[in-house]
Amino acid sequence: MSKTLRDWLDTLERHDLLARIGHEVHVNQLAAIIEQNHRRATLFENIRGYALPLAANTFSNRVMMALALGCDESGILAALTAKRQARIDPVVVTEAPCQEIVEEGETVNLATLPLHLQHELDGAPFVSAAVMVAKDPVRGVNNLGIYRMMYRSQNETGIDVTAPHKLRHYYQQACELGRPLEVAAVLGLPAIDLMAALASTPLDEDEYAVLGGFRGEAAELVACRSIDLLVPANAEMVLEGEMLPTGWIADEGPYGEFTGTYGGGLKQNPTIRIKAITRRRDAVFLSATHGGHHPGWTDMHVLFPMIELDIHNALVQAGIDVRAVRALPASSGMWAVASIKSMFKGDGKNALALMLAASKQAFPKIAVVVDEDIDIFDDEQVTWAMTWRAQPDQDVMILGGMKAVPLDPSLPSSMPPVTTAKMGFDATIPVGRDRADFAICRPAVLGETGRRPELAPDELDAALADFIGQGAVHFQEILEEFSGPSATSVLESFGRLRQRHLLGRDDIGRYVLLEAIDDNPGVR
Ligand SMILES: Cc1cc2nc3c(=O)[nH]c(=O)nc-3n(C[C@H](O)[C@H](O)[C@H](O)COP(=O)(O)O)c2cc1C
Repeated sequence: MSKTLRDWLDTLERHDLLARIGHEVHVNQLAAIIEQNHRRATLFENIRGYALPLAANTFSNRVMMALALGCDESGILAALTAKRQARIDPVVVTEAPCQEIVEEGETVNLATLPLHLQHELDGAPFVSAAVMVAKDPVRGVNNLGIYRMMYRSQNETGIDVTAPHKLRHYYQQACELGRPLEVAAVLGLPAIDLMAALASTPLDEDEYAVLGGFRGEAAELVACRSIDLLVPANAEMVLEGEMLPTGWIADEGPYGEFTGTYGGGLKQNPTIRIKAITRRRDAVFLSATHGGHHPGWTDMHVLFPMIELDIHNALVQAGIDVRAVRALPASSGMWAVASIKSMFKGDGKNALALMLAASKQAFPKIAVVVDEDIDIFDDEQVTWAMTWRAQPDQDVMILGGMKAVPLDPSLPSSMPPVTTAKMGFDATIPVGRDRADFAICRPAVLGETGRRPELAPDELDAALADFIGQGAVHFQEILEEFSGPSATSVLESFGRLRQRHLLGRDDIGRYVLLEAIDDNPGVR
C-alpha cells in the first residue's frame, strides 16, 4: 500500500494510470492538459518559473480506488468495510519529511506555489486537494476533511465551509467563543489517506485513529511549527494557519465544482491566514480535479466508496439483503444504485428511504434500487430494470426538506439554511408478482448438435414424442436433445407431431404430449 504521494504516483505509473509531462509547460496550460488526460493522473515535472512539480487527477476513477485499497474493483466495499472499522492510535514523531523546509511569517508566499486557474470563471486559482486538519474547540478531537481554498493574497486564502460538515460546525463554535480556529491544510497525501479523511465518524471520535485504521498502521504525526495541531508526517506540504473568527463575510468563489457548474457562484465565506508553509525539499504539489467536460473522471471519485459504504451499512443494519451499491460517477455520486434480494413487501421502498438519508455527505439526491439479478455496474441493465420493472405512480418516492448539498445549482440558494428534495425509484419486482413475468430473455446458448445420435424420420418422431411425454419441455430442451448437423430434421419432426395434434402447452408455455384428438384440433 502506498504510504506517500510519491509512492502512489509510482503505483499509478506502473498501472499505466499516469501521464508524465517532462517538457516545460506554462502554469496557464495545466488545466487543459489535465483535461486532455482525464482518464489518467498527470504529473508536470517542469512548470516554468516554479520550483515544484504538480500532480493532478490522482484519485479519479474506480481502478485507482481499488489500487489504493489493495483489492480489485469488486472487492472495494469489503476492503473499505474492514478499514473503516479498524482504529489504530497515531504516534507522534519529532522530525518529519513534511518539515524539511519551513517558511514562517514574512517569508510565507502562496504565489510561489504552482497554483493554476482550473476553470474559466474561477474566482482565482485554488488549493484544491487540501486535507484540512482541525481540532473540535469543545471536544478537542482531531477532524480531517477535504476543503477548497481560494488564493486571496500571499498569506491568505478563502475556504468554502457552507456545507453541513464538521469543519463548519467547529468554525461556528470557534466564532461563538470569539476565537480563531487553527487549521492545517495538509497537501500531497496518498489516495488511501484522502479516503480516510472522508470517513463518517461520530462527533467525539478522533479521526487520526481512523487514518491509522485505513493505513493498517499507526499514522506518524508531527507538531506544526506555528499552531497547536498535529499533522501527518508523510505529507508533501502543510499550510499552517487559522480561520479568522469573522464569520461568512469574505468573497469566495466561483469555483468549477463537482456539479459540473460554478456551484454557488460567488459566495461569502471565512478566510484563513497562513502563518507557515512547511514542506519536503522536493515536494510535489497536489491538485484535485472537479467538473469540466468529464465530471465522472475527476477526483470526486475518492468520495464515492465512502458514500457506497454508508449506504451499504445502513441497508445491512436495517436487515435488507443488499448485494451491491454504486455511486454513479457521471452524477458525481449524487445518484446511487443498490441491488437487493427482496424478502418482504416494502423492502425496496425501505431501501430507498435509507439510501437517501444514510450518508453524512448528504449524497445522493437520486436513489434506485434493483433486484439482485441486475448488475448495477452495467448502466444498460439498470436502465432496463427501471424501464420494465416499475410503475412510476407506485414506485417513485419523493422526499422533501432533506439535508442538501448546497452546491446543487437546482436549489434556490447555495447558502444555508437550505434543504433539498430527493427521489427514490424502486425498480425491484414487486413481492407477490410472478417473477417469470420479469425474467430476462437471455440469448439461447446451445451446443452445435443435440445429445441424441441422428435418427431416421420415423425413429425421430417416436423419440421426440417419448421425450416430451416424459415431462413438459421448453423448445430449447428439444433442440439440446435432438439437433442434428442442422435443426431442420428436428423442426420437421416437431411439425409432424403438431400436425398429428400430439402437442399441447402447459401454463408457462412448455410442450406436453397429448393423446391425438384428430377431430378437435382447436382445443390445443
Ligand atoms: C476533492 C474534494 C474537495 C472537497 N471540497 C470541499 C469543500 O471545499 N467544502 C466542503 O464543505 N466539502 C468539500 N468536500 C467534501 C468534504 O471533504 C467531505 O464532506 C468531508 O467528509 C467533510 O469532512 P468533515 O465533515 O469531517 O469536516 C470535498 C471533497 C472532495 C473529495
